[in-house]
Amino acid sequence: MTITETILELKITRNSWTRPVAFVPTMGALHEGHLKLLRKARESVGSGGTVLTSIFVNPLQFDRKCDLSQYPRTLEADLEYCRLEGVDHVFCPSPDEFYQADHSTQVLESSLSNRLCGATRPGHFDGVCTVVLKLFNLIQPDYAIFGKKDYQQLAIIKRLIRDLSLDIEILPTETHRESDGLAMSSRNRNLSAEARKDASRLRKALLAAQSLSETGEQDPHRYLTAARHQLSSPLQGFKIDYLELVSQLTLQPLSKVTEPAILAIAAFYDDVRLIDNIEIIAK
Ligand code: PAJ
Repeated sequence: MTITETILELKITRNSWTRPVAFVPTMGALHEGHLKLLRKARESVGSGGTVLTSIFVNPLQFDRKCDLSQYPRTLEADLEYCRLEGVDHVFCPSPDEFYQADHSTQVLESSLSNRLCGATRPGHFDGVCTVVLKLFNLIQPDYAIFGKKDYQQLAIIKRLIRDLSLDIEILPTETHRESDGLAMSSRNRNLSAEARKDASRLRKALLAAQSLSETGEQDPHRYLTAARHQLSSPLQGFKIDYLELVSQLTLQPLSKVTEPAILAIAAFYDDVRLIDNIEIIAK
């Protein structure tokens, strides 16, 4: 496994990569969910291709300074995971290396980014699009692997690829969960033991709502109420940032569930922001 920390080194190493190339962008603090993406990357290129991952906590996509400073950084353990997974190359630049001090160009997606996480985290997806496009330019992958846990991010990256005519195939990957259903996240390690135990209610809330789809329920409010009910007792704990039922295609709220939808949630537990989503298809 080779590791580079500078853009110049990466460009030099690039000549030795055999195609196809599969790329998994991450912010590190790797867990089983990330490993699932790395395995999918290997499957997609076979033993003769190249699997690459980046580990970079991208300052541009953090709207809260404390969130950026508290974001877990575990580079040595991450590199060990990558070695065990047979990753060929890891790119882990510092922010100063990655962005020039007078960096002034951003990539802006202006439709799908408006709601959900985009509405409550101003500038977040501009930061995501900018870092991802820059990484795509540097790495020039054939495949890029993204998780469905960040459903909106996945939709926006697909749109960016379509709109800017990039020749990259996106491979979406199912959300990997803890045994109690909580979606794995680098942020979970910031939860206190008590909060961690209670946090599984997030998944239970989504499942409770999803069960309504079996009766053919088409009223979005019923789904939202079912989810809220699970989260509001006991009253302390979650503070909902957003809970919305949106079209899978446009990410716009639905007045009637007559097309494939997503019930998406972001909630703070103490100061830790957790997100999850579930597919809703009314029968
Ligand atoms: P990060 O949160 O590290 O996630 C990296 C990738 O892992 C994303 O595609 C995310 O959807 C996926 N992922 C995270 N948890 C997962 C889980 N439990 N199951 C399956 N996949 C999971 O997302 C980012 O970083 C950044 O925004 C990034 C794209 C790297 C740009 O900075």
